[in-house]
Amino acid sequence: MKGIILAGGLGSRLFPLTKITNKHLLPVYDKPMIYYPLKTLVEAGITDIMIVTGGDHAGNFLRLLGNGNEFGLKGINYTYQEAEGGIAEALSLTEYFADNDKVVVILGDNLIENNIKDEVEAFRGQPEGARILLKEVQNPERFGVVEFDGDKITDIIEKPEDPKSNYAVTGIYMYDKQVFDFIKTLKPSDRGELEITDVNNMYLAKGQLEYSKLDGWWTDAGTFDSLLHANNLIAAKEQKVEV
Ligand code: G1P
Repeated sequence: MKGIILAGGLGSRLFPLTKITNKHLLPVYDKPMIYYPLKTLVEAGITDIMIVTGGDHAGNFLRLLGNGNEFGLKGINYTYQEAEGGIAEALSLTEYFADNDKVVVILGDNLIENNIKDEVEAFRGQPEGARILLKEVQNPERFGVVEFDGDKITDIIEKPEDPKSNYAVTGIYMYDKQVFDFIKTLKPSDRGELEITDVNNMYLAKGQLEYSKLDGWWTDAGTFDSLLHANNLIAAKEQKVEV
């Protein structure tokens, strides 16, 4: 199983913080943001990792992380996203690295309280298909949101105006090798991106989309408020206090 961290994009929702650096290098309490998703993968036993980055500050990832020795890694693979084509486009760049293996993909601004060991094990045991991780949230309209019939997912809508549940699709996705063929068939959405939600719906249509509900807190950190929230959650975790 390979690990992929998506850390490209312009971070435009965090401008001017992202004028002179990449979003995923910004501090979250006492560490750069990218440390957290990297730790999430390593703690789940995934050590063959590629970081997809882009923009003007890509070289700083190498300066910061080097070969990943601090994380117990022997090396880290890097690739560069030329265009701002969205999450699915960034993922498509890793096809040669995945090399027909299964992949665990994590967005570089997604932070969790616990770990994904059980979810990765569940996916390891899955013969084919995909697995998404869900989390109940107060503001589902900001995310990809699932619609359920009982405990069966029937649809996933990206940033719905009228969410049919409070379950957000977190930015941690597990895919078999079909993902790269699915991405090749995608058309850009209204925001001009290849949407990962469309990929997940393709697996759903084939009856090959599994899910797990994530324990503990989950947050992204791509807006001023969620970045502040992420800082507070990590600070509380490190100091072992309630927020
Ligand atoms: C992206 C995905 C969305 C997902 C979210 C998780 O949103 O498109 O489905 O719920 O990440 O962080 P974006 O951050 O691109 O708005």
